[in-house]
Amino acid sequence: MSTTVQKNEIPSFNLSEEQNLIEATVKEIAQKEFAPRAAEIDRNHRFPRENWEILVQSGLVGLPFPEEYGGAGLDHVSYAIVVEELASACATTSVMYSAHVSLCATPVFIFGSAQQKERLLKPLCLGEKMGAFALSEPGSGSDSAAATCMAKEQGDNFILNGAKNWITNGKEADYYLVIAQTDRALKHKGLVALIVEKGSAGFSFGKLEDKLGIKGSSTCQIIFENTPVPKENMLGNIGDGFKVAMVTLDGGRIGIAAQAVGIAQGAWNHALAYAKEREAFGQRICDFEAIRLMFAEMQTEIDAARLLTHHASIAQDNGLHFTKEAAIAKLYASEVAMRSTVKCVQIFGGYGYVSDYPAERYMRDAKITEIYEGTSEIQRLVIANQLLKGN
Ligand code: CAA
Repeated sequence: MSTTVQKNEIPSFNLSEEQNLIEATVKEIAQKEFAPRAAEIDRNHRFPRENWEILVQSGLVGLPFPEEYGGAGLDHVSYAIVVEELASACATTSVMYSAHVSLCATPVFIFGSAQQKERLLKPLCLGEKMGAFALSEPGSGSDSAAATCMAKEQGDNFILNGAKNWITNGKEADYYLVIAQTDRALKHKGLVALIVEKGSAGFSFGKLEDKLGIKGSSTCQIIFENTPVPKENMLGNIGDGFKVAMVTLDGGRIGIAAQAVGIAQGAWNHALAYAKEREAFGQRICDFEAIRLMFAEMQTEIDAARLLTHHASIAQDNGLHFTKEAAIAKLYASEVAMRSTVKCVQIFGGYGYVSDYPAERYMRDAKITEIYEGTSEIQRLVIANQLLKGN
């Protein structure tokens, strides 16, 4: 069955020659290397380390960072294109990638000192280290300021105690950006952002989560028991942790929007290939008006979601404030991914309900985009807060 991405013939909105080249290159890698493994990874809940190695060898894991740190020096529209193409083939691979780039390397780039960028960002850009982000806790998901994982100052170190939940790249990462509390009375103003290295004393892992989708992604709790973290691994100052988390999530949400667009487009492609082959009542099911209208509706929404995603990336590349644009893109794209993948299952009929065909996997993978890096309800809150600021 063909999995070729069916975008219209008009060149994508505002894409440069370089961005078109990135799209074509990553599409080829994703369809050749990642798409054929996606079902097996899902079935076996297997972290695809070999996919990470391919991303590293292709020079993609440092894509939006300057060449002096081992990055490729490309823009965030290119980054969104890469995430979309990966997700169209394998959602697990796209989130492994976006968590590394958006949630760990990016805050080191934005908030790190020159020395920290040299020491921490370079290995992330070169793929010698994989990154993860640790904000949510067993008792605090949407309410990030309520974090209770404690960081107490002790000489040149912070001593960490507590647990963090839902960590993408959980057992596989090397560097974890951990948001911890130095003084509960200060609430969000007491938070600190620390890079914690795997292998630190008292740093252990909880069980791998058995998830509905993105099953190859390694998601687990991480636990700190008197874990020393050198102060030289703090991004910014004590009290900057909440800002680091929010700025990081602004960028991360564009990545999730791009992931949602890729999942929706990937499912659409599979559904079209199926609808062209499958016959009922003496004709191909893609010749029935009911089915044709579904394809039209889905592609309209997917194109709109892609444009919103690139719009947010362009704002980011131009150094503009993009909190609202990122939240709008994530909110819309994730809901489009859910609606589209449900329709794709419907087009497959009974075959959409069994794992022999890819439709049900795309539907399961789509759901998480409405939840992680801020639920759809949180995105609505962020958008409203930005729209009504000062009123
Ligand atoms: N950029 C910079 N600063 C920001 C900001 C932003 N986007 N948003 C808020 N701030 C600042 C505010 O200006 C304010 O600063 P001052 O104290 O100096 O005035 C401060 O932060 C507090 O802001 P709020 O009062 O708006 O904060 P709040 O407590 O009401 O929370 C929230 C706001 C939007 C609900 C926020 O908590 C939030 O985004 N929650 C969702 C968290 C989330 O997305 N979690 C997902 C975790 S990651 C993940 O999914 C796992 C993975 O690995 C993929």
